[in-house]
Amino acid sequence: MTDRAQRRLDLALEEADRLKQLLSEILQYAREPVLDVKPLDLRAFCQDIQPRLAELLAVEGRSLVLESDLPEAWPKAWIEGDADKLKQVFINLMRNACEAVGTGETVTWRITPGSQVVCISVHNGGDPILPEVLAKLGQPFFTTKPGGNGLGMAIVKRIVAAHGGEVLIESTAEAGTTVRVMLPLRVSGQ
Ligand SMILES: Nc1ncnc2c1ncn2[C@@H]1O[C@H](COP(=O)(O)OP(=O)(O)OP(=O)(O)O)[C@@H](O)[C@H]1O
Ligand SMILES: [Mg+2]
Repeated sequence: MTDRAQRRLDLALEEADRLKQLLSEILQYAREPVLDVKPLDLRAFCQDIQPRLAELLAVEGRSLVLESDLPEAWPKAWIEGDADKLKQVFINLMRNACEAVGTGETVTWRITPGSQVVCISVHNGGDPILPEVLAKLGQPFFTTKPGGNGLGMAIVKRIVAAHGGEVLIESTAEAGTTVRVMLPLRVSGQ
């Protein structure tokens, strides 16, 4: 095969990958999430998926730190959750955090229990989100990225809402960007 033909083939394959990703995101968004909920200990859940998420960031030259505010005497945080769908939530949030910071930066993932909710936050530095962007964040197909589909946050919000939770976003120049996923706590303790 000539170099030109090879290049054309590579471009066609890249385009096919991009379309596959777009179609998969559209289908995820279009389907009303039907949850397969089970009692889920969030600490174990986060520890389980951390290596996969860290790898996702590592290939882009960013690192991931998982911190927990769960006290030693209170090691578990049970929720009623769909592990696969929640994994998708954190993959989408990690991708956004990773895309917002430069190479060598760290993204922090933190679990903080409250009396009735548990908060899992994803924090990144970098430029803050402009107020006009913040207002539209989560609106399907809203993106500021040249290759973005604008479905990542819309999918996150749908899945979290289906769990009876909510997504809060805070972004300032001093503190960076924090996305908080608040989920109802079923029972805490052992
Ligand atoms: N952590 C973040 N830091 C800075 N900007 C963010 C962050 N998360 C989201 N954004 C902004 O919100 C927009 C929408 O995010 P969303 O994840 O929905 O779509 P996207 O990342 O552009 O595309 P994709 O469908 O590939 O996820 C982004 O284009 C970006 O401008
Ligand atoms: Mg995104």
